[in-house]
Amino acid sequence: LNEQLPHDKSLDNSLALMQEGYQFISNRVNRYESDLFEARLMGQRVICMHGEEAAKLFYDSDRFQRKGAAPKRIQKTLFGVNAIQTLDGEEHIHRKLLFLSLMTSEHQKRLAELAKNEWKASIKLWKHADHIKLFDEAKVILCRIACHWTGVPLSESEVKERAEDFSNMVDAFGAVGPRHWKGRRARPRTEDWIRGIIEDVRAGKIEANKGTAMYEIAFHKKLDGTTLDAQMAAVELINVIRPIVAIATFITFSALALYEHPNAKENIRNGDEATLERFAQEVRRYYPFGPFLGARVKKDFTWKNCDFKKGMLVLLDVYGLHHDGRIWNKPNEFRPDRFQDWDGNLYNFIPQGGGDPSQTHRCPGEGITVEIMKATVDFLVNKVDFDVPEQDLSYSLVRMPSLPESGFVMKNIKEKA
Ligand code: HEM
Repeated sequence: LNEQLPHDKSLDNSLALMQEGYQFISNRVNRYESDLFEARLMGQRVICMHGEEAAKLFYDSDRFQRKGAAPKRIQKTLFGVNAIQTLDGEEHIHRKLLFLSLMTSEHQKRLAELAKNEWKASIKLWKHADHIKLFDEAKVILCRIACHWTGVPLSESEVKERAEDFSNMVDAFGAVGPRHWKGRRARPRTEDWIRGIIEDVRAGKIEANKGTAMYEIAFHKKLDGTTLDAQMAAVELINVIRPIVAIATFITFSALALYEHPNAKENIRNGDEATLERFAQEVRRYYPFGPFLGARVKKDFTWKNCDFKKGMLVLLDVYGLHHDGRIWNKPNEFRPDRFQDWDGNLYNFIPQGGGDPSQTHRCPGEGITVEIMKATVDFLVNKVDFDVPEQDLSYSLVRMPSLPESGFVMKNIKEKA
């Protein structure tokens, strides 16, 4: 036991974690007035950490590893078994280069363009609908463009179900019971589908263009010179498509932010690209999506009087960091302009992880995420008019992942003159 460190009295905090969700760590950080505390989760000792310094520590790969960190229930829904998220060292850096090569600014712009075209084309269909749910529309559009961009053939008749499967893998991560099992069934179904396509590409039955995610993953060489087995290649290709579909969550929160903050909307109407960017950043800071990140202690060390023992699980607070008044002025106000002064710090704004993405597990898809968000917000503000009927726009800080309850319903949608 770490004697100096605050501990929760209860035998196991797993229930409290389910009851307090995004605020589980920050509630205790405030209660104990300590950025570190020890808890028991699912029967094991866990050190929970909060703050910028802790984030910096968390990304020290001499001290922490990812092997053994993600529980099977996360690997069997969100990540895929033995995927990049669980690799360490050279093997990880080598795999990471593959992902980063697919996410250059050219690719980001291409995806934003595809999203813009899809949104525009949707207006024609929406005009005849009584109402639409933005979250549902976004999932389908994102699945369509993600498959198109990666080179995965997808027929119009299957896009809705595939989009639902990708989305359910994400939705399962913080759930127990039926919601978890939905994601658990979605994953093997999707892996079978994508593995078949990888095999067909390798056999020359499906054409893949060099430079696409499909081609580069199908023919990627590991450090030992061999290709990924078809199952692993499928898991990694899904690691590109699934998170693009997940941008639907940030899009739905963006629509909520535009609705609740007419001033921010007005600034975008009259603003430039930088205004859009600050808005997207503030959405990623303010709203809950990723709650915490996990790693395991690689070797014994002591930090701030706390003994980190080899093999211990460590959780880094993500949501709480973005709502810490020591880091963010008036953190519970939605103010995109705060990003005018932000210096690009790698450890105080970590909606998609921290550190240098080529050296750590930080998300390689941040550029793609922000560009697709910008294209979509521009569309919502400058290209369409719509009404927002009475609906439940509240979102939970307990349910993980969170989302506005109604999924953001829109009515009387018209193209802007
Ligand atoms: C890793 C969040 C979009 C691909 C991560 C991590 C987070 C994250 C928190 C882990 C960081 C860590 O463990 O230190 C998000 C969120 C997204 C998003 C909230 C918005 C929807 C994307 C996109 C792509 C992508 C669009 C690809 C097109 C990946 C991959 C990893 C990753 C491959 C694993 C990286 C590694 O282990 O080195 N993401 N991401 N993500 N993300 Fe994203």
